[in-house]
Amino acid sequence: MRIVLGVAGGIAAYKAALILRLLTESGHDVRVVPTRAALEFVGRATWEALSGHPVSTEVFEDVADVPHVRLGREAELVIVAPATADLLARATHGRADDLLTATLLTATCPVVMAPAMHTEMWQHAATRANVATLRERGVLVIEPDSGRLTGADTGPGRLPEPEAIVAAALAAVHTGGRRDLTGLRVTISAGGTREPLDPVRFLGNRSSGKQGVALARTALARGAEVTLVGANLTVPAPAGVALVSVESTAELREAMHTAAQRADVVVMAAAVADFRPAAHASHKIKKQPDGTVPPLELVQNPDILAELAATRSVPGQLVLGFAAETGDEHGDVLDHGRAKALRKGADLLAVNQVGVGVGFGTAENTVTLLDGSGIEVGGASGSKDTVAHAIWDVVADRMAQ
Ligand code: C5P
Repeated sequence: MRIVLGVAGGIAAYKAALILRLLTESGHDVRVVPTRAALEFVGRATWEALSGHPVSTEVFEDVADVPHVRLGREAELVIVAPATADLLARATHGRADDLLTATLLTATCPVVMAPAMHTEMWQHAATRANVATLRERGVLVIEPDSGRLTGADTGPGRLPEPEAIVAAALAAVHTGGRRDLTGLRVTISAGGTREPLDPVRFLGNRSSGKQGVALARTALARGAEVTLVGANLTVPAPAGVALVSVESTAELREAMHTAAQRADVVVMAAAVADFRPAAHASHKIKKQPDGTVPPLELVQNPDILAELAATRSVPGQLVLGFAAETGDEHGDVLDHGRAKALRKGADLLAVNQVGVGVGFGTAENTVTLLDGSGIEVGGASGSKDTVAHAIWDVVADRMAQ
């Protein structure tokens, strides 16, 4: 793929060298377009050596080649990392006073910007407005991480890790620039809950969180604002989502009810324990010398999906659940799914077959999407991103109606 990597003048410019390495090592042809200020942080020689291409910052260099038009037109993906407050402002206003901003004006491919700046600059009304405008125009502006900034200060404004930026950018290309979830606030639960028995033991399940994380990543790429309630995820949360980390069903329930109060779409992709130990010992449960085994009494957990479906505080909110099923003597996977669709009160139910090595923890998944009355309305088989996109296709359709 032909990629333009724009680098603006911030201390995080050094991390763009790692982004460049990740992209070229995956076989992409990358043209680096730094701003003048970016070259104060990382010099031209680094960009030329790592990209294998000459590097210019100005539209007046190499004029016969008309690079300010050609680079943007030919690009299949533009990534700007770091995007400084100044670069966001210039891009918002359609300035073309250097090669990078001129390239942004001629690019018709997906554009991904990863801002990095001091917290005050990120939170300033001017930057907020610029980011909102860029997002309205279809630019994927990744939320910065919170953490250590240039000096001893900390807060939101840190450039996400290079791997996370590359993953978000490649996901944006995967959607073909589709931004049909723009303006929607989406809350997704992912992972598997752990029900504590004592300070060191818990009852858990095999969920990796991969399907929920794929839903978060693809929703973000399609323009949604995403809150991810992650229960013991085994994979990193995508850059740009607001992550709420939880462990038990009780914590997940509270986080979901809070996030759902400002969500247009609520997705319960987490594997929630149906039962929890009736008591939670405050000290590690000891082995008895006489070999007596402590009884394990369980109580039922509330059904969070059914609660969310019954208590919608946002008008027009869509609630989607998952049903991980295995067939048995009472019916096949879809029979169970249909019964569950009717029982839960959700608008959509994604039904998938599970078992050891199928569905849970694997890279591939097969899902049939049912509406609230059990009628099949979609489905997909393939990577968890492919399945996620098929789910968003149905959701985007419904939200547009
Ligand atoms: O009833 P079952 O566990 O098969 O339903 C699965 C769906 O319900 C999933 O969307 C899961 O996140 C949700 N669920 C829940 N609270 C529970 C159990 C499951 O929200 N206690």
